Amino acid sequence: MNDLSALPADFIWGAATAAYQIEGAVDEDGRSPSIWDTFSHTPGKVADGDTGDVACDHYHRVPEDISLMGDLGLDAYRFSIAWPRVMPQGGGPVNAPGLAFYDRLTDSLLEAGITPFPTLYHWDLPQAQQDRGGWPERETAERFGEYASVVAEALGDRIHDWATLNEPLCSSWIGHLEGKMAPGLTDITAAVRASYHLHLGHGLAVQAIRAANPNARIGIVNNLSPCEPATDREADQAAAIRADGHTNRWWLDPIHGRGYPQDMVDLYGVDLPIRTGDLDTIAAPLDWLGVNYYFRNVIADDPTGLPPRAKQVYLPGVRRTAMDWEVYGDGLEQLLVRVSEEYGAQRIFVTENGSAYPDTVGPDGQVDDPERQAYLEEHLAACARAVRRGAPLAGYFAWSLLDNFEWAYGYDKRFGLIHVDYPTQKRTIKGSGRRYADIITAHHRRARRAA
Ligand code: IFM
Repeated sequence: MNDLSALPADFIWGAATAAYQIEGAVDEDGRSPSIWDTFSHTPGKVADGDTGDVACDHYHRVPEDISLMGDLGLDAYRFSIAWPRVMPQGGGPVNAPGLAFYDRLTDSLLEAGITPFPTLYHWDLPQAQQDRGGWPERETAERFGEYASVVAEALGDRIHDWATLNEPLCSSWIGHLEGKMAPGLTDITAAVRASYHLHLGHGLAVQAIRAANPNARIGIVNNLSPCEPATDREADQAAAIRADGHTNRWWLDPIHGRGYPQDMVDLYGVDLPIRTGDLDTIAAPLDWLGVNYYFRNVIADDPTGLPPRAKQVYLPGVRRTAMDWEVYGDGLEQLLVRVSEEYGAQRIFVTENGSAYPDTVGPDGQVDDPERQAYLEEHLAACARAVRRGAPLAGYFAWSLLDNFEWAYGYDKRFGLIHVDYPTQKRTIKGSGRRYADIITAHHRRARRAA
């Protein structure tokens, strides 16, 4: 195993999930449909017609799932709160039973000695809010701020670490431009406006959480990827800069007070609906930055493609996961150093990192997943190298705690440290999960010795 001794003694070891991917119970206790219920129930949108109706049935299995987190030795659990459970209409009345679920989850985690690390929005916009225009409209940002206030008032006495949004890139570009995620639009104007209002909603949520708990530690979670030109042709080099703008700078610049990158504003050709004061709201100081990392982008020019008119090149002979994503640990090191040096991040979490492989339960009842274990070790080693180069990395959350509903790919892609047999809901800790537990134990031991 690579040397992880550079990771700080108080490094936080966690695993992550998201509400729609694991909870199920979609029409219980007053939850309303989200855009993902609509999307997944639309024929042809999700592989095999899968939906999140039952998922991992986590809503009814919290004690068992927390006990499994204990078996892994997790310090923290990153989960998301479902807006349609808490405020089923987007704005307006609060649904007390929905909020009570997260209240119980919080208490149970704390009783187990696991720090709750919630994200307020992981893509499950209430459909009622979508019907009023969704993220392309300013009203959605304002309602999100109100929802954040309700949740922070209810849980802020016990929860100190908050993420506002998960991967607004996916909500905007994949959901509103490529049409491959909910709400399934293919409209650059809607996509750019959605990205803007997601940022504004983030800023309003930061204000709301701080008002509820001035000591809260607040961050945002972006999925980032290094974008490298496939060749030294000028057109590919320029395409890689555009891809970097689309993938990284569009999401990092505004929250760091730099406004939106002008090259991308020009490329998209969409007027941003900026009002006085918005850019300051969007750039509200944060306590930490979340980085989700899965793969790098190797980019070639694509003059007839969608913005940013750049396409991924399929490198032959590299290791790939079941998602067809390249395994490239160095990319994580590069990103962590970049957000630290170029954006001055003071505290960083890897809020997601993981791999899908087609796991099966063996005749001995075990799930052997050496490739996921190698992926985990390779990426943790990258974290340690980044720390040695000065990146203030404070923790790592594996994606994912459990196999779950992988959005448009359905249940076929398994990212969990814990295998879920969907027909029986039986959970089995995979080899990679056991390896992760050993790594965590060794780190805790090292930290105690050093204390
Ligand atoms: O499953 C997703 C998660 O919801 C967001 N980040 C990427 C993961 C793997 O695709």
